[in-house]
Amino acid sequence: MPEQKTPAAQREIGFAIVGCGVIGPWHAGAIARVAGARLVACADNNKERAQELARGYGDLLKKLDITKEGGNVVPAVYTNYKTMLKRDDIDVICVCVPSGDHAKVGIEAAQAGKHVISEKPLDVTLAKMDAFIQATQNNHVQLAAIFQRRFDPNAMRIKQAIEAGKFGKILQADCTVKWYRAQKYYDSGEWRGTWELDGGGCLMNQGVHGVDLLQWFAGPIAWVQSWCATTARQRIQVETQAIAIVGFKSGAHGVIQGSTVCWPGEPVINQVFGTKGTASLQDSRLTSWKFMKETAADKNMLNEANNPMTRASGTDPLAALGQPGDTHYPQIKDMVEAVRTGRAPACTGQDARHAVEVILAIYESARRGGERIKLPLKADSPATGFPKA
Ligand SMILES: NC(=O)c1ccc[n+]([C@@H]2O[C@H](COP(=O)([O-])OP(=O)(O)OC[C@H]3O[C@@H](n4cnc5c(N)ncnc54)[C@H](O)[C@@H]3O)[C@@H](O)[C@H]2O)c1
Repeated sequence: MPEQKTPAAQREIGFAIVGCGVIGPWHAGAIARVAGARLVACADNNKERAQELARGYGDLLKKLDITKEGGNVVPAVYTNYKTMLKRDDIDVICVCVPSGDHAKVGIEAAQAGKHVISEKPLDVTLAKMDAFIQATQNNHVQLAAIFQRRFDPNAMRIKQAIEAGKFGKILQADCTVKWYRAQKYYDSGEWRGTWELDGGGCLMNQGVHGVDLLQWFAGPIAWVQSWCATTARQRIQVETQAIAIVGFKSGAHGVIQGSTVCWPGEPVINQVFGTKGTASLQDSRLTSWKFMKETAADKNMLNEANNPMTRASGTDPLAALGQPGDTHYPQIKDMVEAVRTGRAPACTGQDARHAVEVILAIYESARRGGERIKLPLKADSPATGFPKA
């Protein structure tokens, strides 16, 4: 008789990472610290990167004095992720390859019976995102998508206040992602700045975080009108600046601004304005929390919300800020619970699809000289550059 695997609820959940570049180690850092998670293996075309990630995971366990249930075994290293997928001690695959390959790797992982966590954006076309979501459903595995800013305590505070009706009727919601990416950033990977694998520029790669929060707070978005252009850098296909007016299904309106040419770069700003109040988030800092009728807690909120001692969870010291993988910690923890209990992850593939669809609509509008584009989109349009203004 074949040996029965211990039920997920009673054992450590085995993770493996595909893609060990910039973001892979963030996943490893979070997996190291989440109780009930273990990094079993990692894969990268570039063997040194995979080896370095595996070493870094071991070093972090040592540094933080963490012992995993099954002992601190060094993760196995693969240059071919397809071989890695054959291991039966892997429950979850973290997809950390270039954006336009998320669905490809994720679908193979799902077909191998693995749950999947995809980096943002879920993928860069509607067709690929839908095939990805479908494959996980067909194979009865979970699909979680990284949007770590949703898990920030202050972002969650705003979301909960919106749901409680604290802002009244939301009339305006905006997001601004004005960052800086030098040419050497684009030169650091052949996929960067390409339509095929980056899927876009300052919005699809960088701004997608702000767009996701915007639609999570005030969405769904019903239409967009925009301007996008490649205003700097050489040898890139995608936009470096984007500005869009958006209309929400609720009747609210807002503005999305994205850039990779604003030196030296500013925090991501998300703002919500309602008939009874305003909130403003700058990265993880709550900078405005105003209500016509304020409670004592509201009056003290900026002190409370921005105090590093109260931000870090007192009951979970490993969640404390300032450790590698901090931002991804809540999502890895959430995935362990999702796998163990069978409930959906807090940010599913379907949830993460919205921001990409909004960005694709913004590109379509810009390509048509600012025409109003309604959502939902019916199909993908060819990904090309933008007309000269
Ligand atoms: N959540 C965030 O804040 C955040 C931050 C940075 C990057 N990301 C996302 O993470 C993804 C990767 O970005 P990055 O900056 O780490 O890129 P990167 O180029 O630094 O790393 C990608 C790695 O994937 C490897 N790779 C590519 N194809 C592969 C394959 N078929 N098999 C195995 N390995 C393969 C490459 O060799 C490389 O090491 C992107 O989708 C990006 O949008 C998210």
